[in-house]
Amino acid sequence: MPALASIRARFEREQPLAGLRIAAALHVTPETANLMIVLQAGGAELHLAAANPLSTQDDIAVALLERYGVAVHARRGADRATYDGHLDAALAAGPHLVLDDGCDLVSRLHTGPSQRLAGVQGGCEQTSTGVVRLRAMAAEQALRFPVLAVNDSPIQQSFANRHGTGQSTVDALVRATNVLLAGRTVVVAGFGNCGKGIADRARGLGASVVVTEVDPSRALEAAMSGFRVLPMAQAAAEGDIFVTVTGNRGVLTEAHFAVMKDHAILANSGHFDLEIDLAWLRAHCVDVRSGVRPQVDEYLLADGRRLLVLAEGRLVNLAAAEGHPPAVMDVSFAGQALCVEWLAQHAGSLEPGVYDVPPAIDRGLAELQLAAMGIRIDRLDHEQQTYLTSWRQG
Ligand code: ADE
Repeated sequence: MPALASIRARFEREQPLAGLRIAAALHVTPETANLMIVLQAGGAELHLAAANPLSTQDDIAVALLERYGVAVHARRGADRATYDGHLDAALAAGPHLVLDDGCDLVSRLHTGPSQRLAGVQGGCEQTSTGVVRLRAMAAEQALRFPVLAVNDSPIQQSFANRHGTGQSTVDALVRATNVLLAGRTVVVAGFGNCGKGIADRARGLGASVVVTEVDPSRALEAAMSGFRVLPMAQAAAEGDIFVTVTGNRGVLTEAHFAVMKDHAILANSGHFDLEIDLAWLRAHCVDVRSGVRPQVDEYLLADGRRLLVLAEGRLVNLAAAEGHPPAVMDVSFAGQALCVEWLAQHAGSLEPGVYDVPPAIDRGLAELQLAAMGIRIDRLDHEQQTYLTSWRQG
């Protein structure tokens, strides 16, 4: 992770985070461990909780604690109460800044005892679902400190959402089931950048891809990109493999299960486990064979059909694979590290609200990444620069 390594070297010299306590709720992976080490090198004290009960890599949690002294509160497979307790333990440290992946820490800070909010100066949000929740809080004037929407930065949208989720979701489908994608119909619910990445890669492996959408522009874009666009009620009967990535709830429900093929594969790559209505499946199936392969549960329906649900309907790319590869998280977490540094300097002077990543940080990240990939680009000359800022020349 060369971008993070270069930031680490500078942070060691400059100590821009000296004296800051940071609570983070992130997926506990080797890439997150690297971010923690970089922030620690900058002088911060760190308290890390998980962002999903199935994404924690326990060996990484132990190594961070034992070798680096990071207070880690996470265990793979934690039940709801334990998972929530871990978030509370990270917040009990009294953070100045919070790093979120799904808005768990921020929403807990705003719904728990009010004194917890007292010392918090700002935060960063890593994922689309979290930014939606933050904007809802801001619209209700409920948000009490500034948060940078790291997820929304152009480089994050392209690197993490399109390339990271795209590749790691298809990787998870294949690792979990060993399914051949060529010749199968893959239904992708949601054509945001994550859905685009998944649809492109599934097509690249020979699948025939159907997209479902609720947004007319995105549906049109999917159609113009050569994907078949259908309502889910129709796609449900055609799909061999379903991937939800909408950020909403109730995307695959009873009506869809009723018409699915025997042995259809159901996976979710959206942040929360509400996209596939597992509560209905659990209540109405005749039998469940858990763990027919790692991360695969087989639900037997009354009419004899079987549906294969991956990773209990949780983020499949992190639960059944390893999430975004390091090359993606390098850019993402280099962005987080620079945003944390920026917040350390500016949070005190900002009103509560959701803020875009400063364009200079985004540009700097793209430059670091291009350098790491050995790619050089052209520069505007003086005349071109003048042309772009003048309205008199034709
Ligand atoms: N989110 C998606 N992939 C990730 C990874 N590898 N580490 C941390 N967070 C992630």
